[in-house]
Amino acid sequence: MQAREICPNIKAIISVHWERRLFDALIPLPDGTSYNAYLIQGSGKTALIDSADPDLRCNLFAALEGVDSIDYLVSLHGEQDHSGLLPDLLQRYPMATLLCSKKAEEILVSHLAIDKQRIQTVEDAESISLGDLSLEFIYTPWVHWPETMCAYVPQRKCLFSCDLFGSHLATADLFSDDKPRVYEAAKRYYAEIMMPFRTILQKNLVKLANYEIDVIAPSHGPCHREPSFIVDAYDSWVNGKLKNEVVIPYVSMHGSTAKMVHHLTQALVKEGVSVRVFDLTVTDIGQLAIALVDAASIVVASPTLLVGPHPMVGYAAALANSLRPRLKYAGVMVSYAWGGKAIEQIAAAISGLKLEVLGTILQKGLPDQHCYAEIEKLAAAVAKAHREDDEVQC
Ligand code: FEO
Repeated sequence: MQAREICPNIKAIISVHWERRLFDALIPLPDGTSYNAYLIQGSGKTALIDSADPDLRCNLFAALEGVDSIDYLVSLHGEQDHSGLLPDLLQRYPMATLLCSKKAEEILVSHLAIDKQRIQTVEDAESISLGDLSLEFIYTPWVHWPETMCAYVPQRKCLFSCDLFGSHLATADLFSDDKPRVYEAAKRYYAEIMMPFRTILQKNLVKLANYEIDVIAPSHGPCHREPSFIVDAYDSWVNGKLKNEVVIPYVSMHGSTAKMVHHLTQALVKEGVSVRVFDLTVTDIGQLAIALVDAASIVVASPTLLVGPHPMVGYAAALANSLRPRLKYAGVMVSYAWGGKAIEQIAAAISGLKLEVLGTILQKGLPDQHCYAEIEKLAAAVAKAHREDDEVQC
């Protein structure tokens, strides 16, 4: 896609990857994605922020037709979807200097074999003049990797936010005016990419609140010309109250676990707790991640396969553990035929979340009246915990 202006003298070069369906060989991309580079043409110098995934080399280089000189290539983040074409760009613009953070320098040299002589590292809050425009660098570590930083053009109140405030969304729209669509994609992006770094993200959001911002230009998805839309969304995901909600990821092989899940669902609804149920055999794991952003509790349910949980349950539990959602309470329900240690293995898989376990239920074969009574006790315990917790919105 050709370069398009987002502010005077600042153009977005958005390389839309319509057909990509997997990121980092892990994250599903039901809506594709885009890689955004930004061309800033000051009265004295020109800078290009980031590049694109090497798969879309043609797009970036076609958009740069006619741009004969670039003084600064800027790398906000060393991951290859943004940095992968820097070696080609350094070749095409032999006089350009590559600007990046100190930590990014190590990554760019070791991952892309970039010549250190071409790199100039910048400090937090350092400013580089482009003539009538300037670029200020803002260290924002862990808005995906440790080296990530943002850049800011004060004369245009434009923030280049790197992966932060982005969305995996292939669209021709330059701005996030289709808010419901972008909100869903941005929340998915937050859940899958940013949520593990929530604590440091809180500090980065406080730091960025010191800047007057009219436009946010992220490195994926559309730009935001109403910054409060995405900033307020992040504030609610990072700092807001948790929902009076239970997420139930499960697998059922012969029906017993499904019966337990259905009974728990009804019991929770009776207790006034909302429920999100995910049959992991058909679930888009990204939908599960989105649900984990603001739910207060999780109940993992699994049949026993050999001596442990069903592998798809093990995967979902490990993923939840890695994504570090703000969950506070947990339960585990397991059905079995002849033994095993599924409950212990599931509890161990999510132990990094440090949740209060409100109940575990182990049922041999089909659930009976005793099992259903235990499930109702679990639902009552969840409802009570939510009611008594100030961090949960009941
Ligand atoms: Fe979009 Fe962390 O790269």
